[in-house]
Amino acid sequence: STGYQSVVVRTSSQAGSAHYVTQERVCFPESFQFGVATASYQIEGAWNVSGKGESIWDSYTHMYPERIFDHKTGDVAADSYHLFKEDVKLMVKLGVQYYRFSISWPRILPNGLSNEINKDGIRYYNELMDELIQNNIQPMVTMYHWDLPKSLQELGGWTNPIIADYFVDYARVLFNNFGNKVSAWLTFNEPLSFCQGGYGGLDAPGDQASGFEDYLCGHNVLRAHGMVYRMYQEEFEAKLLTSVGITLDFSWLEPAMESLEDKIAAETARQFFFGWFAHPIFSSIGDYPQIMRKRIDSISKKQGFHRSRLPYFTTEEIEMIRGSADFLGLNHYTTYLVAKSKKKISSEPSFAADMGGIISQKSSWPKSNSTWLKVVPWGFRLSLNWVKRAYNNPLVVITENGVSLEKGLLDKRRIEYIDGYLKALHTAITKDHCNVYGYTYWSLIDNFEWTRGYSERFGLYQVDFDSPNKTRKPRISSEYYARVARTKCLPI
Ligand code: NOJ
Repeated sequence: STGYQSVVVRTSSQAGSAHYVTQERVCFPESFQFGVATASYQIEGAWNVSGKGESIWDSYTHMYPERIFDHKTGDVAADSYHLFKEDVKLMVKLGVQYYRFSISWPRILPNGLSNEINKDGIRYYNELMDELIQNNIQPMVTMYHWDLPKSLQELGGWTNPIIADYFVDYARVLFNNFGNKVSAWLTFNEPLSFCQGGYGGLDAPGDQASGFEDYLCGHNVLRAHGMVYRMYQEEFEAKLLTSVGITLDFSWLEPAMESLEDKIAAETARQFFFGWFAHPIFSSIGDYPQIMRKRIDSISKKQGFHRSRLPYFTTEEIEMIRGSADFLGLNHYTTYLVAKSKKKISSEPSFAADMGGIISQKSSWPKSNSTWLKVVPWGFRLSLNWVKRAYNNPLVVITENGVSLEKGLLDKRRIEYIDGYLKALHTAITKDHCNVYGYTYWSLIDNFEWTRGYSERFGLYQVDFDSPNKTRKPRISSEYYARVARTKCLPI
């Protein structure tokens, strides 16, 4: 069932008689699943409604408006808290098989530090899941898509090891309340982004130190992930028909030049950006990638630090984390070039210096509306093959892929983007035998793109954020994606 179907296509009329040629139609296996994705803070709004507690993104956008494009917030966003039934209708039109969304931790446990459950939060997600299931759309749920309860940030957030225990408590509430409705769980979304961006960059909570806090964050996220997976195995696996994985982001990292130096720099960058989180969970050895361990230990020493800035796992932790996932969720958007950095290591600790590569993109690559996102479909196939080789062909679901364009409804370039990336994915599955079972487009609707506010739009449906009822309108890409999701073939 995998692969190509031969179809006869009428291409043009020549001298009055139709001209027919046989083309190979790109079809995914019958069992392959298509979905769409969103995340709580980016779409829900209702930031202080019905008992919800404050998250770090609520306080960050309120305290530092100048850090967000146009001083926007997610206070109302697409108002999906009130309009979720409309969102489900859009998905029915698309014909997708599942919906990936996230649960807002402070909507469930407003205080963060106590296990007092907010009934309205449970009600909201139950209604959303029921609506989906009634319409034959399976819920795929992310437990953490960056909106940490503020009270936990006051303890240091992901840099404090105690947070892993709080995360386990929260996950248990989720399994208890929604366990039988969710087809697949993701513990975390893109730890690289929120540890690097939030604990070493400009995202919430902000003001953290790269080269220290980002590694602490990563360490505790990996511990928390492993602990949740083991708790799930002990307490829920036998009674729930579900699976638990994690979503990691992997942009392809290509050597800038054909030199050995740049090849090594690119492979080192892959280990820093992706292996950091994937190696401890998915490699047969467990623990951080060796190259990361070696580089950070030695640079830390040269910088005069008594201990490595990259923390060490205990033997028990390595065992607990290794193999702690039923599948790997992969977010893939773009490709970067990596050249070896010629700079001497400075005394200032930083992730970029530890990694030792200079990251760039080719100016000739087609652009999007996000500075970091260039259209490079071949990088997708290479990423999937790298994952296959490095971790013994794990079960993968593409949990995000998508492109930001301008506001309008005639988004031909979005169709081209998806088409190009789906062809690369199809080749990776059928020719390279990568074990991928699903593809999720980011995003169903336009939403709050973090520090970029509402300026970067990824939706198959446009949202008019100025209108009081946040009107949704279909872009032409939604018709294209509906054909893909329904037929599991690319329209020619
Ligand atoms: C990654 C994140 O998971 C999501 O929150 C974000 O909006 C998209 N990629 C696009 O940047």
